[in-house]
Amino acid sequence: MKGLIFNQQFPSKILFGSVADPVLRSGEVLVRIKAAALNHRDEWSRQGLYPNLKDGVILGSDGSGIVERVFDEANSFWVGKEVIINPSKNWGPNQKAQSKDFQILGMPENGTFAEYLAIPVDRLHTKPPHLSWEEAAALPLAGLTAFRALTYQGNVQEGEQVLVTGFGGGVAQFAAQFAKAKGAILSVSSSRSSKLEKAKTLGSDFQFNYLEPDWTQKSIEATNGGFDLIIDSAAGDTLSQLISICKPGGRIVIYGATMGNPGKVEARKIFWNQLKIMGSTMGSDQDFLDMLAFVQEKKIHPVIDQIFAMEEAEKAFDRMKAGDQLGKIVLIP
Ligand SMILES: NC(=O)c1ccc[n+]([C@@H]2O[C@H](COP(=O)([O-])OP(=O)(O)OC[C@H]3O[C@@H](n4cnc5c(N)ncnc54)[C@H](OP(=O)(O)O)[C@@H]3O)[C@@H](O)[C@H]2O)c1
Repeated sequence: MKGLIFNQQFPSKILFGSVADPVLRSGEVLVRIKAAALNHRDEWSRQGLYPNLKDGVILGSDGSGIVERVFDEANSFWVGKEVIINPSKNWGPNQKAQSKDFQILGMPENGTFAEYLAIPVDRLHTKPPHLSWEEAAALPLAGLTAFRALTYQGNVQEGEQVLVTGFGGGVAQFAAQFAKAKGAILSVSSSRSSKLEKAKTLGSDFQFNYLEPDWTQKSIEATNGGFDLIIDSAAGDTLSQLISICKPGGRIVIYGATMGNPGKVEARKIFWNQLKIMGSTMGSDQDFLDMLAFVQEKKIHPVIDQIFAMEEAEKAFDRMKAGDQLGKIVLIP
């Protein structure tokens, strides 16, 4: 079969070429991948910025497809079924945090950027029928991350002022859609006016360009006092801005650090304003089930940025690196 192999010795670090067919082990099924989707961790891996990188691995955490074969007769129910794949592996029994054996599909074990994937049967879920193959592939990692950050950690409530930063991001567009569907008053920020325009057409109530020096002041005025809940993946020096626009008693959930570690943070503003600053990563199996049920109930459709053939993966990765995307970048094997 063909797959997108990661190797730090390759000039572009990735190559779509011939690889050995997956060999099924007990408890596994073989999925013929119909569509896969990029996440920033794939690009971090290409840049050598992801921990525990292993050469020769097929990248990719997100995928949708059809089950072709099962190892165990007991799982034959799945043969021919249309599925999506939960990329959280070994979360463990604790809803509060993942176990030390937690892994994300696609590094250090083979992922979805290939024609076929061998995967434990317990990672399969029926593809939501209202989603296309591409939309279904776009959902798992980003949808799960956004859902846990917003609900389990952020405890979003109807009528709250919610800010989702960096609207162009894959996770951010889910966080924004989910927040709106939960009845929040939604603000988004972005570096590009075109993305802010799109956010408006998709139903956000307020939009801010985080490159404008006075955006925090504008956001306080527009929301009449700031935010109950902020969902962010930038961190860096943005964090002190977010602290300054969070209402007393408000919550900030951070699920990424695209801008690195924060430089200066005013501790007094955190304790005086009774703020809660939380981290969130991916999600448990329960979060995944809850997210899927919510997406089906609300008939949510992921925002697809562009669809590339896997042969053109380099272009897709470059698009993500440049931050040109709005929503999810999809790859077709
Ligand atoms: N903890 C987890 O489980 C988890 C899961 C998924 C992702 N992540 C992390 O979260 C981050 C986003 O991932 P993704 O897959 O959604 O990436 P992505 O689709 O590449 O989105 C990145 C977005 O970040 C936004 N951004 C950049 N600088 C910003 C700033 N200073 N303030 C606000 N937003 C800024 C940009 O939004 P605009 O273009 O709108 O400006 C950009 O489009 C990455 O760091 C990733 O590693 C963590």
